[in-house]
Amino acid sequence: MLSKTQKEKQVFIKSYGCQMNVYDSERMAEALLPMGYKSTPREEDADLIILNTCHIREKATEKIYSEVGRLKPIKQKNPDLKITVAGCVAQAEGEEIIRRQPLVDILVGPQAYHKLPEMIKNYDKKPVALDLDQSGKFDWPHRGTSNTVKVSSFLTVQEGCDKFCTFCVVPYTRGQEYSRPVAEIISEARELISSGAGELVLLGQNVNAYHGLGQDNRSWSLADLIWKISELPDLQRIRFVTSHPNEMTLDLMTAFRDCPKLMPYLHLPIQSGSDRILKLMNRKHTQAEYVEIISRLREYRPDIAISGDFIVGFPGETEEDFQETLSVVEKVGFIKSFSFKYSPRPGTPAAERVQVDSDIQSERLQRLQNLLTEYQFAKQKSMLGKHCQVLFERDGRLEGQLVGKNEHFQVVFGQIPVSWIGKVGTMKIVDANVNSLHGELVN
Ligand code: SAH
Ligand code: SF4
Ligand code: F3S
Repeated sequence: MLSKTQKEKQVFIKSYGCQMNVYDSERMAEALLPMGYKSTPREEDADLIILNTCHIREKATEKIYSEVGRLKPIKQKNPDLKITVAGCVAQAEGEEIIRRQPLVDILVGPQAYHKLPEMIKNYDKKPVALDLDQSGKFDWPHRGTSNTVKVSSFLTVQEGCDKFCTFCVVPYTRGQEYSRPVAEIISEARELISSGAGELVLLGQNVNAYHGLGQDNRSWSLADLIWKISELPDLQRIRFVTSHPNEMTLDLMTAFRDCPKLMPYLHLPIQSGSDRILKLMNRKHTQAEYVEIISRLREYRPDIAISGDFIVGFPGETEEDFQETLSVVEKVGFIKSFSFKYSPRPGTPAAERVQVDSDIQSERLQRLQNLLTEYQFAKQKSMLGKHCQVLFERDGRLEGQLVGKNEHFQVVFGQIPVSWIGKVGTMKIVDANVNSLHGELVN
């Protein structure tokens, strides 16, 4: 692919934040290949370093400045090294980043990655691309070219968000809701599958709000898209993340019941169990409505596993509000969860309100996490002696070990021949920890 005059160069890319950034990083690596950039896991060997950043909480943002600072000795040794800040911090902070940290050479927002090769080629001043129009981003490049395709591969189908929860920066960093056309997604899915993907995880900030242009020129729902993708031969499994409770439509519930490739696992954040706080968050649903959605889903797919996200210490949250969050955990019994202390984000409405004391936030987070872990561990232990279907993804930490995931997205380890990578095997679970299961191959 390289012409004779092009020298081989190395790029080091690090992703922070959500799966959408992981996906974007893979695509950046692929787009840089024709320019001669090979990926390296060692930053000291790199000619180009890309930090693909996350702005969701203050800690995530601040980390970037110290990460760039840490690169100073590498840049001193190699003055040609270009340091790029990509992703949501680049979008949110803009050129302020370069003022605060002059080691940064290039800034590129989450919807402008397709401009990166051009920016590197014509590098003379500090190049900055921060436009939020998503349409060009996906025109580019073919997948599977950099050998990074994994057994379980991410595929972004929807970007951005119009929901404006009062705590969240995503609508500002990723822009408006945008759904990719079906034909484009199917062609990318084919490329990923032919490069070895056995599972596709469809990504979007609000993936179940997907409404892309279908092959019949009509608007397709996420369920329509899932059915179409499920027709692709050699694809074994489909999942999607992240969903919003207000978009859990009947056709999606039906797909969980009827589409054999759609795995019985759903990540459905609730954030808080208190109706008062949900209102202040602009989530536009109540606790009862959320619980009702889960029970309906369980009518359609009785074994469906639910995971969630929680925020504690949102401005105005009282002990009674927090008790409601604990009560929703008991009602739903999440298989896995992510919980965070509320972090005020610049430019979002909730940041302007009177904040909950940080010690109270920490104490509530601890209590919530204890309860969530209790439920998670109980679910893990309930697998002991049972059989499950595991898609093996890669080598485990120990010699001869493989790791994969079962139907419910639980991580399963076992001593299994490497030829099983990419295949689904029946495992009998013999040991259960909070975060992983150990099994023996039955077939
Ligand atoms: N689109 C998804 C969430 C995307 S952000 C949804 O609607 O659920 C991922 C998670 O980060 C959120 O679910 C929330 O739990 C957490 N989060 C977002 N903003 C936050 C903030 N300001 N402080 C703490 N946690 C936050
Ligand atoms: Fe953020 Fe809310 Fe949009 Fe999720 S739905 S990305 S939490 S604004
Ligand atoms: Fe973070 Fe941006 Fe994802 S803020 S969570 S990387 S959309």
